[in-house]
Amino acid sequence: MDVEKLESDALAAVAATGSADEIERVRVEYLGRKSALKLALREVRDRETGMTLNALRERLEAAIDAREEELERAELDRRLTEDVLDVTLPGEERLLGTLHPTTLTRRIVEDAFLGLGYEVIDDREVETVHYNFDQLAFGPAHPSRSHRDTFFIDPVRLLRTETSPSQIHVMEAKKPPIYMVSLGRVYRRDEITATRFPIFHQFEGLAVDRNLTLADLKGTLLHVMRALYGEERQVRFRTHYFPFTEPSIEPDVSCPICDMQGCRTCKYTGWVEMGGAGMVDPEVFANVGIDPDEWSGFAFGCGIERAAQLRHGIPEIRPFWENDLRVLRQF
Ligand code: PHE
Repeated sequence: MDVEKLESDALAAVAATGSADEIERVRVEYLGRKSALKLALREVRDRETGMTLNALRERLEAAIDAREEELERAELDRRLTEDVLDVTLPGEERLLGTLHPTTLTRRIVEDAFLGLGYEVIDDREVETVHYNFDQLAFGPAHPSRSHRDTFFIDPVRLLRTETSPSQIHVMEAKKPPIYMVSLGRVYRRDEITATRFPIFHQFEGLAVDRNLTLADLKGTLLHVMRALYGEERQVRFRTHYFPFTEPSIEPDVSCPICDMQGCRTCKYTGWVEMGGAGMVDPEVFANVGIDPDEWSGFAFGCGIERAAQLRHGIPEIRPFWENDLRVLRQF
């Protein structure tokens, strides 16, 4: 065999390797059990040839080991420069969820009423004309009954325009004493403006017991307004009209934004409107079979977004429905 040619071929092959895999292939080719060198070594009959071939084997082993080491070092260098971890780079931001301001406010209201012993209910949003209007003593020509104001599904079904139908469902289902609060979405065919949106949330309270008066209503609303806006708040009543309460009032809360100093939110009056309320009308009691001579009751309804706007100083209602994370993450 041509020892010189074998050696120069092998060394050229070693020099051409560029990876651990390639160096392994060269090792097998030139030093493996079936390599020309190993086969020749097995056939050796004389001492001189044996020494020549063994010396060649040692040189090739040394060349391969040296190349292997060189490649490993190059690979390490490459990783040290390329895979370097720069701990000063800004990390990947993980967004944490937050509760929607409507949810936050709703929970405060729920907690305040639970503390008074009220039952919290979650009622249907698709109602009937019967529950949304008739049972609540809305007159046959009341404008809320029109398609202009209300989303009808068919002639008898509609999206509730207020949470007041919950009063009827609860009074039909159980006997007094009743203390319940119903929270959820209501729907009105309003144009979207800074203060109006065709969907919003209300909380509706109803208490039916012996000898309840407007004073009980006022104390109850004061408790909830203070839970929402702080212990310094005051409540006052203005007379109003609702078909299902008599007398009817509109409760105001002393302005939580300026603390009655006068600001744009309270239009410099010191008071802001909170919703509607009143004593349950005897006609409504008659509709659900409760004796108005034995029982009296009060009811109230307030917008939840409106309360959240006041709590957080949010000037418009639109952001409540836009799901803009830049807004929602502030709460
Ligand atoms: N349902 C009335 C509204 O949406 C509010 C209200 C509730 C008034 C309960 C009186 C009693 O305007």
